[in-house]
Amino acid sequence: SSSTTMKLSVIGCGYLGAVHAAAMASIGHDVVGIDVDARKIESLAQGHAPFFEPGLQEILTAGIQSGRLRFTTDMAAAQGAAVHFVGVGTPQQKDGYAADLTYVNAAIDGLLPYLSPGDVVAGKSTVPVGTSAELAPRVEATGATLVWNPEFLREGWAVQDTIDPDRLVVGVTPGADGDRAADVLRAVYHPAVAKDTPFIVTDRPTAELVKVAANAFLATKISFINAMAEIAEVTGADVTQLADAIGHDARIGRRFLGAGIGFGGGCLPKDIRAFSARAEELGRGESVGFLREVDAINLRRRERAVQLVVESLDGAVYGKKVTVLGAAFKPHSDDIRDSPALDVAVRLHGLGASVTVTDPAAIENASRAHPQLTYVEDRDEALAGADAVIVVTEWDEYRKDLDPVQAASLTEGRIVIDGRNCLDAAAWRAAGWTYYGMGRP
Ligand code: UGA
Repeated sequence: SSSTTMKLSVIGCGYLGAVHAAAMASIGHDVVGIDVDARKIESLAQGHAPFFEPGLQEILTAGIQSGRLRFTTDMAAAQGAAVHFVGVGTPQQKDGYAADLTYVNAAIDGLLPYLSPGDVVAGKSTVPVGTSAELAPRVEATGATLVWNPEFLREGWAVQDTIDPDRLVVGVTPGADGDRAADVLRAVYHPAVAKDTPFIVTDRPTAELVKVAANAFLATKISFINAMAEIAEVTGADVTQLADAIGHDARIGRRFLGAGIGFGGGCLPKDIRAFSARAEELGRGESVGFLREVDAINLRRRERAVQLVVESLDGAVYGKKVTVLGAAFKPHSDDIRDSPALDVAVRLHGLGASVTVTDPAAIENASRAHPQLTYVEDRDEALAGADAVIVVTEWDEYRKDLDPVQAASLTEGRIVIDGRNCLDAAAWRAAGWTYYGMGRP
């Protein structure tokens, strides 16, 4: 309703910012999204989502039609907003593991001339702990208040996660300004607050750290189960049964115990590396030394998948047609950043296999990044004549809809490598396939 409408700006219209801007408009706010990338802004302003994300297109169109959502490259448009969200990227540095804060600094500096006393600047980007302390003097010299409000959205569920999150975390400086800023954010997130979503107010370093700790924990959970897969592989144990069995313990939980070719994407890999680098800077590298193992285990699983393909073809992969089912780093996404799926495809190509990749959403991005591979839109066409098939992204199109009997009628060989442990092994075997899982006999 109009009584809850606030004026908001969102600096940075990448994955996080574009979703945030559209989601905030969808809950009734008056939002301007700002980015230096003119092409991105033009696309968003015309109501086109620049990437695939379920539900985004709808709220983008609705927001623009309602007049509550607009996009511009002009930072001056931020003037007058009560809250300025900063959601620019923090990529891995080119020459190391640390986070590159160039875009965060540029966004803050660009925003400074348009801030008014009482404005709230809410950092959403994933940053090394201590970043807000560095930014605060510049922001607060204008009379605005800086808070850190990390984002926990998952790609594929980004709209839902933004409007209806598990929890909200706001890091403020203790005192009246901080308390007021926390209240302002409560008003921004009114639908979630109304349904008693945990709203956790911390100091700023804690809020920064909550985000990195959450991703480090998730990455560790995946690498833990992948480490068990490595043990299972030499003992004949089945890691999926193991995960089910330990997952029934509520203290452990079954989610994120999916063993396979490991984690990728724009967040977990870079975030654990940036965390290691930051801990080193703080003289506490040893505290998160295990994250190096988490990274190493994760990368070994990609190599293991390649090895399984090679073994399945009796060591002679050269010139064999290998169909790779999946390119996105996970289903429901067209994102190929640090995609384990594509990494496996590229390695197989490097060994001389004739690699054909298919994916329901990520073909365009994948072919731009790795033009040396062959891409086929149609799944069945991609399977035609394959000597071996490897599933690397667990899309329903492969997991549920691909009938092993029908698949066998298309391929040359009957070899399937399940890089995500997502297929019904018994059904594939019954249809005459030699099935290889990851950490399963
Ligand atoms: C991750 C976190 O889950 C979000 O909470 C966080 O907000 C986000 O990063 C971020 O920092 O922005 P996302 O990268 O979208 O979200 O993807 P996840 O669902 O976490 O999957 C990451 C990777 O782990 C994928 O490659 C996925 O295939 C893999 N994975 C996931 C496994 O290999 N096994 C599992 O059991 C679960």
